[in-house]
Amino acid sequence: MSIEKVGVIGGGLMGSGITEVSARAGLDTVVVEVTEEAAKAAEGRVRASLERAASRGKITEADLDETLGRIEFTTDLAALADRDLVVEAASENEDVKLELFKKVGSILTKDTAILTSNTSSIPIVKLGAVSGRATNVMGVHFFNPAPVMQLVELIPSLTTSPETMASMQSFVTDTLGKQPIEATDRAGFVVNSLLVPYLLSAIRMYEAGYASAADIDRGMVLGCGHPMGPLALSDLIGLDTIRAIGISMYEEFKEPLYSPPPLLDRMVDAGLLGKKSGHGFYAY
Ligand code: 3HC
Repeated sequence: MSIEKVGVIGGGLMGSGITEVSARAGLDTVVVEVTEEAAKAAEGRVRASLERAASRGKITEADLDETLGRIEFTTDLAALADRDLVVEAASENEDVKLELFKKVGSILTKDTAILTSNTSSIPIVKLGAVSGRATNVMGVHFFNPAPVMQLVELIPSLTTSPETMASMQSFVTDTLGKQPIEATDRAGFVVNSLLVPYLLSAIRMYEAGYASAADIDRGMVLGCGHPMGPLALSDLIGLDTIRAIGISMYEEFKEPLYSPPPLLDRMVDAGLLGKKSGHGFYAY
């Protein structure tokens, strides 16, 4: 099945990145947000990222206009009716996602339409079950910043059909030009199962006073060749997102390393969410 019309639910950090990736691949893309204000903010994020790409000579001004012209920002879920593929990138909250999959499963009009989630920890099988089209539901997990990171994790659930998986493999590789890996439907998949306990350990280390945030980060950048240290990366991903993923992973495995440390809870309660709120372990 050829995928030409894409829908993205949620225009936050990940949703706007996925929208940009889709529109830059030449696809007609609809983004659904909850309020007009959020839709405008999503448009601003995509525009700012495209302007950055234009200023670095990666795209021309004409490409920028054409890419934005392929995107519709709306608050109406019904605008997803004719989509071939929908990527849900709402907040990492199981109730919110279940409600969306239930609604969108009945809004999609094409039998072949594929409904995916960018979740990194919520069971895909549950999203499929409420959607009424479980064979066409799977996880498609992008990495932040989505326009830059090459990896996409593909997660078929127990009920996903081999045809759905094959369509997404070719979409990610041939249409988006990214590189997929396949993971099973367990909280964290491959990357977050390794990354999240590492980030939480760095936060615990900072909380316990081992070293300053800057020195913990310099340790991993200069000592291990990572592009950024764990606390700067936590700020980039969003502390609320890391906390939500840690909780889902802890609920599934009861592994103490996945449990968010008190400092992370306090920072999220205080609205210190990292780069997106202007303050986390660092000020932006
Ligand atoms: N959007 C679009 N492009 C961006 C970008 C953004 N937000 N941030 C950086 N870029 C581009 C730049 O335009 C630049 O492109 P160019 O070299 O072709 O001109 C390139 O990325 C490098 O950017 P910079 O020179 O400004 O900065 P750095 O060299 O420091 O790279 C980085 C920035 C790409 C973010 C790099 O530090 C990095 O790779 N960090 C690690 C990111 C990572 O680990 N992400 C995964 C997070 S886990 C996740 O998302 C899963 C979730 O479930 C938690």
